[in-house]
Amino acid sequence: MVAAVRVHKVGGPEVLTYEDVTLPAPGPGQIRVKQHAAGVNFVDCYFRAGAYPAPGGLPFIAGNEGAGEVVELGAGVSEFKPGDRVAYVSGPGCYAAERVLPADRAVKLPANIGYEQAAAMMLKGMTVAYLLRRTFKVEKGMNVLIQAAAGGIGLIFCQWANQLGANVIGTVGTKEKAELARANGCHHTILYRDEDFVARVKEITGGRLCEVVYDSIGKATFPGSLDCLRPLGMFVSFGASSGQIDAFNINLLQTKGSLFATRPTLNTYAAKREDLLAIANDLFAVVGSGAVKIPINQKYALRDAAKAHRDLEGRATTGCSILLP
Ligand SMILES: NC(=O)c1ccc[n+]([C@@H]2O[C@H](COP(=O)([O-])OP(=O)(O)OC[C@H]3O[C@@H](n4cnc5c(N)ncnc54)[C@H](OP(=O)(O)O)[C@@H]3O)[C@@H](O)[C@H]2O)c1
Repeated sequence: MVAAVRVHKVGGPEVLTYEDVTLPAPGPGQIRVKQHAAGVNFVDCYFRAGAYPAPGGLPFIAGNEGAGEVVELGAGVSEFKPGDRVAYVSGPGCYAAERVLPADRAVKLPANIGYEQAAAMMLKGMTVAYLLRRTFKVEKGMNVLIQAAAGGIGLIFCQWANQLGANVIGTVGTKEKAELARANGCHHTILYRDEDFVARVKEITGGRLCEVVYDSIGKATFPGSLDCLRPLGMFVSFGASSGQIDAFNINLLQTKGSLFATRPTLNTYAAKREDLLAIANDLFAVVGSGAVKIPINQKYALRDAAKAHRDLEGRATTGCSILLP
């Protein structure tokens, strides 16, 4: 039996149930990992609330990001051996002392990346990696807007975009978050709960607006985010922390300047093993060199997963959160 946090019925944070569960032995192509830490992500809330159905139905163990040590191999696994240090983004199952996952979703950890760091960054850091280098190639001198700049994705994004030479503009909910975003490489912060963020982006960029807007807020910042783009700019809608964007007429992209829009997800970008490894290596390189630091600003015991969700959804966190089994 291992300690785990399960969801028996979808709902609010209170449905996260700490209990002992029996894990199956790893099947063909799977590995069993003794976890050292699990990351907490907004997507965990979507699964918990039922907005995303869990692939195996109910009940399921929550959590999609983790790191630990391989303890057992299923048939046919040759890339790993017991004792290997690994990290992964892999379907629900990470809020547990141990988990079983497909070996082809795990990545070996370089010696200079710790377990907690890895558990906090695999989903968020690889997302930033593909957003900045693949969805749109951010280059030196570009004006880039990131919504929720002090969040888990946000603080990693600000450091990385700054390092690429972009002019980084970020929205945040409080003055403390603004300070934190600036300390992490965001050049200009906007208090979007008090200020008109579109007007501020116009002012900050001297009317030139942005080449690209990265928006994980969804409903509350749409269509304002489109108005922050220059003609032919790219709208990257990669999350819905405030709710899903309502259906809209695509002609809006024409009237606002022949804009491009995309709704990417890490699952697609890292679907092939070679892409997963390439994106993870990009992340390991910037973290290993110290250019990007992983800000773990909240640590919770595994049994306190419900509090971790309340804090995340209640906008009370900054940077990354992890659970410790
Ligand atoms: N597409 C992908 O591949 C992908 C991968 C990973 C994550 N994501 C998405 O990226 C987003 C960020 O994820 P994260 O785990 O790093 O979370 P996070 O950004 O640390 O937390 C969400 C932040 O959004 C802001 N926010 C604005 N309106 C909100 C509302 N109504 N309710 C809650 N928060 C609100 C809050 O910051 P302020 O107080 O500063 O406003 C809050 O701290 C999520 O939407 C997630 O689904 C997408």
